[in-house]
Amino acid sequence: MLTVRDIRAKAGDEPITMLTAYDAVTAGLVDAAGVDVVLVGDSMGNAVLGYDSTLPVTREEVASRTGAVARGADDALVVADMPFLSFGTDLETGIENCGRMLKEEGADAVKIESSEHTVDLTERLTDMGVPVMAHVGLTPQSVNQTGYLRQGTDPEEAREIHDLAVRHEEAGAFACVLEHIPDNLAAAITGDLDVPTIGIGAGTDCDGQVLVINDAVGLSEGSPPFAEAFGNVREEMEDALDSYVEAVESGEFPGEEHSYTEPELDDLY
Ligand code: KIV
Repeated sequence: MLTVRDIRAKAGDEPITMLTAYDAVTAGLVDAAGVDVVLVGDSMGNAVLGYDSTLPVTREEVASRTGAVARGADDALVVADMPFLSFGTDLETGIENCGRMLKEEGADAVKIESSEHTVDLTERLTDMGVPVMAHVGLTPQSVNQTGYLRQGTDPEEAREIHDLAVRHEEAGAFACVLEHIPDNLAAAITGDLDVPTIGIGAGTDCDGQVLVINDAVGLSEGSPPFAEAFGNVREEMEDALDSYVEAVESGEFPGEEHSYTEPELDDLY
């Protein structure tokens, strides 16, 4: 089983792989493929729960799916992504909500979208034994302020993102997600941090890469420009579903091999 120490040790040495998963079956497949970190992302809002953004995702939804992923993954580090407003209102509530993911659901760490107010929370959680993955750049929980646009494109904004990453490392974060920022900014942050950076739309110089599973396997209807589909699961599912409907409607399914006749009932019917 991988620990945050193993993930930290990979920084600058071996690329770190991270994918999201939201259920035990997918987590089992991701784990068996040798992925280092399984993120129970709040991207579940768009990916599997039918919301338009991550904002409506609840603590209960993340908790239930974190439990499922932790049961499905044997080796990978399981990280629960803390949803909008489950932290930030006050330190105590944030600590309770984060701690619950480890205590009750089997997560190994939490991810928190970083801003000024999460520095203290990161420090407290780290002190208390809850490993924290930071997340800077595009933070989708701030969509109402930033949209889904690339962040850190002017020197002032780049400096703020850089500074936020450094401050979260100082507060104890064991890794930092860099989302949708220029490659040169990601490279500079990666060079300055000792802990690993995990990029999504942040170029080639990060210590690791993360994608949303639906994008990675080709299940999404639309993906961000920085994502890549490594398969075409959507088309496979569509073909399988068409075949099922056709087989039932034509009487081809179920066949004899799917059926059972009880001899003892022969006299009765
Ligand atoms: O929720 C999520 O899936 C994420 C990743 C894209 C980093 O935050």
